[in-house]
Amino acid sequence: MTAPAKLSPPVVRLPSVESTQAVAWRLAAEGSPDRTVVVADHQSAGRGRRGRPWTDAPGTSLLASILVRPRVPLGLWPLFSLTTAVAAAEALRRSTGLEARLKWPNDVLARGRKLGGILLESRSGAHAPALVIGVGLNLAQREFSLELAGLATSVALETGSAPARDAVLAALLEEFDAWRARLESEGGEPVRVRWLALGETIGRQVTIDGITGVAVGLDADGALLVEDAAYGTRRIVAGEIAGPAPASRGRAPDAARR
Ligand code: BTN
Repeated sequence: MTAPAKLSPPVVRLPSVESTQAVAWRLAAEGSPDRTVVVADHQSAGRGRRGRPWTDAPGTSLLASILVRPRVPLGLWPLFSLTTAVAAAEALRRSTGLEARLKWPNDVLARGRKLGGILLESRSGAHAPALVIGVGLNLAQREFSLELAGLATSVALETGSAPARDAVLAALLEEFDAWRARLESEGGEPVRVRWLALGETIGRQVTIDGITGVAVGLDADGALLVEDAAYGTRRIVAGEIAGPAPASRGRAPDAARR
């Protein structure tokens, strides 16, 4: 008897949505399975971290949300953010040759400029527990608005050619599945070690929501360890590093402004 074929989890492809996050949450509430993926060509109300908008010119970006029904204890959930950032960097290397770097907690950089970001949302409710992990990567932008010039970049600007979005998506999902499997079977250490190897944050002077010091490490749960003479080592579980590359949005100059 032949083994039943393994079904791939669904990838829902849409031309234009308000936010792939919102679509993924709707699918979660309707009972969609773990690892359902929503991809769109354009978002009219894309969400960034900390309530910021994430805007795009149609067809220029990878805009994806992954519904996850976690199989790890709640304490490890924050590591899905680092897991996805690692997966994004590995996927970019594999599919485009670009050696992306990571900035705590979840920015994807090239030459210090923002190439993409990860948004982790969690909810409990009738179909909970669930996470929706959003990934936005700048792929085909050839220029950015004045506001973002010098702060944002794209694969096209870094490598000279725009990659096929589906190739980047396929690599992202493969890497995500592999790193998630390691998180579930081995705990957070492999992800933490790989994040540190890809990261640009450790060893730098940082200011995060008013706390200044040297970033000296990453704790087991993904918290950033920041040290200064007055306070010793402090754990920062969430926040944003102030600095020269805070911009989080990839947008062509002619894209609609929100
Ligand atoms: C950040 O602020 O750095 C995170 C940005 C995450 C943007 C992605 S694009 C796909 C998904 N849908 C959204 O509305 N946001 C995330």
